[in-house]
Amino acid sequence: MPQLERAAPEPPLHPKRPAESATEMVQVVLPNDANPLGFILGGTVMHLIDIAGAIACHRHTRTLLVTAAVDGLQFLHPIKVGDLIILRARVTAAWSTSLEVEVEVFSEETLTGLRRMTSRAYLTFVSIDREGRRLPIPPLLLETEVEKNKALDAEKRRAERLKARSELGPCRSVFIRGHF
Ligand SMILES: CC(C)(COP(=O)(O)OP(=O)(O)OC[C@H]1O[C@@H](n2cnc3c(N)ncnc32)[C@H](O)[C@@H]1OP(=O)(O)O)[C@@H](O)C(=O)NCCC(=O)NCCS
Repeated sequence: MPQLERAAPEPPLHPKRPAESATEMVQVVLPNDANPLGFILGGTVMHLIDIAGAIACHRHTRTLLVTAAVDGLQFLHPIKVGDLIILRARVTAAWSTSLEVEVEVFSEETLTGLRRMTSRAYLTFVSIDREGRRLPIPPLLLETEVEKNKALDAEKRRAERLKARSELGPCRSVFIRGHF
């Protein structure tokens, strides 16, 4: 009788420190990025937040990812043409196949160096393979008190997100004619 081949056991995923995937992006705000007041467009900032967050998460998982959620986003100060926009992304928590990243946005005046925080966002990414199947991700190694506190806060935000998602439950499968 032919023997069934046993799948080779998956190698354990090594925990990674938040510092190993921390990402900083710096860009000058150009006229093409701005509204008629000369301030960077909110949509451009959101795009950069998504990119910075995704890079940090890719560095943590080294897999393909999709954005599952972006928490409420506020713009505290405008960033004007000629200023630098700085985005700092750091993974705050990793679960089985999803992870949360914090992205802080700063403006920096090129002539004075004055730096201000303009936004803070939390995004959740899910690790997938090319067929869209969820993939396990490395645990996050929490060493400092700051990292442990951020991870605790991330647990609370995750609970809120999953609650919000379940409240959308029926809508997720409703098809409205002409819309998708
Ligand atoms: C995100 C997505 C893969 C989740 O698929 P799903 O079948 O609902 O997945 P599951 O319920 O099995 O959840 C998978 C993981 O994602 C997490 N997750 C899913 N949706 C989430 C949300 N809205 N907020 C937070 N976490 C979420 C789950 O908690 C779970 O995490 P865990 O494995 O670490 O415990 C799916 O909804 C999707 O493909 N959405 C579209 C993504 C997209 O197009 N993004 C924009 C372009 S990249």
